[in-house]
Amino acid sequence: MGNKVIVIGMQWGDEGKGKIVDVLSQHADRVVRFNGGHNAGHTLVVNGQKWKLALLPCGLLHGKPGVIGNGVVIDPHALLAEIDRITAQGCVVSPANLGISANAVLVLPVHRAVEAADEARRAQPIGTTGRGIGPALEDKVGRRAIRIADLAEPDTLSMKVDELVAHHNARLRGLGLPEFDPAVLLADLLALAPRILPYATSSWQQLDAADQRGERILFEGAQAMLLDVDHGTYPFVTSSNAAAGQAAIGSGLGAASSAHVLGISKAYATRVGAGPFPTELAGEQGDLLRQRGAEYGTNTGRPRRCGWLDIALLRQSIKTGGAHSLVLTKLDVLDTLAEIRICTGYRIHGEISDAYPGSAAAQAQAEPVYEVVPGWQQSTMGIRSWDALPVAAQNYIRRIETLTATPVSMISTSPERDDMIVLAQPFG
Ligand code: IMP
Repeated sequence: MGNKVIVIGMQWGDEGKGKIVDVLSQHADRVVRFNGGHNAGHTLVVNGQKWKLALLPCGLLHGKPGVIGNGVVIDPHALLAEIDRITAQGCVVSPANLGISANAVLVLPVHRAVEAADEARRAQPIGTTGRGIGPALEDKVGRRAIRIADLAEPDTLSMKVDELVAHHNARLRGLGLPEFDPAVLLADLLALAPRILPYATSSWQQLDAADQRGERILFEGAQAMLLDVDHGTYPFVTSSNAAAGQAAIGSGLGAASSAHVLGISKAYATRVGAGPFPTELAGEQGDLLRQRGAEYGTNTGRPRRCGWLDIALLRQSIKTGGAHSLVLTKLDVLDTLAEIRICTGYRIHGEISDAYPGSAAAQAQAEPVYEVVPGWQQSTMGIRSWDALPVAAQNYIRRIETLTATPVSMISTSPERDDMIVLAQPFG
């Protein structure tokens, strides 16, 4: 393994990527965000102190410089509020330890309004985080977005704000909703600019230089493969890519494509928001997982839907995301169960398939096929060595490796940073 590691989620987010990034950032020289925005939410416990991050790379908490790449969409108010909050907690964030790609696009209040209107009009709402991420990314590909670099050029910024607001106002007007005043938006951006611009950098050059120096670079993915706009359960997905390839595109370090890719998966499955979830457990068993796993959204506080590990979807995420090895998290949540189910495929109109179908109609027909394995019914909480794991837990993990043809390199056994079983160090 080399000097670059990418961490990506294999399920619907909330796999515990924050803890894994936190552990690995101790071995890294620089930590990079490359996708998503403040729809992501990481809760970390470092030295007994709780930290909530949404946009800032976790490595900052360990004194490691961070980069927010061009693939991240940035709400400038959310960014500054987070910087202020983290600085007040004792971790000083400044342009000396944080660079933000000048090419990154901004999430603006108009995006939240448009998103709320879109959700309200959908027959089946997606259940977005309501942060305006989707409409901001639509503006990016529509080539009318405001980028960080634009804040330095008031004349052209004014023209760009006019164009962007005119685009959205036409729709808001059509829907009978309040319109936005471009002058107010411009004044707001110009007021924020002096605090944001010192962070602006050419992330590709900064990262290329770091790579040339042989620095160890950690790429911190947000969201996850089943929320990926191309490979997830569309349309119940986020509006960007969560695959390892996005680390190269969303940071500008093309060489990220040679990184070791860690796919993070819970030992079971959860989902927030609407959309297909074939192994979802209703009733008591779902409640048990939610309660034992404290499954409530970091960002929005919504209860998460809970269910069994879906190996068929995990195989898909490994392949589409490009994961080389797996990290299993929250193993201890399964400790009390007498038996555990693993979904190995689906029965669709009487036929067994080991892949999840793409169309909504076929998905509605897909019944999970389960393999049942014995539980261990003893605590694995805080275990730090493979040999200390109950044999049934070892067998569960080995079965996941066999069924996915992918090695498990780390196992997390509690929220505490040191409660990890490390079978292979991802940084070489
Ligand atoms: P959006 O990213 O706010 O547009 O939301 C689209 C879908 O992705 C919704 O189902 C959200 O709940 C989900 N989502 C977005 N970010 C995260 C995350 O960081 N963790 C879990 N789910 C997320």
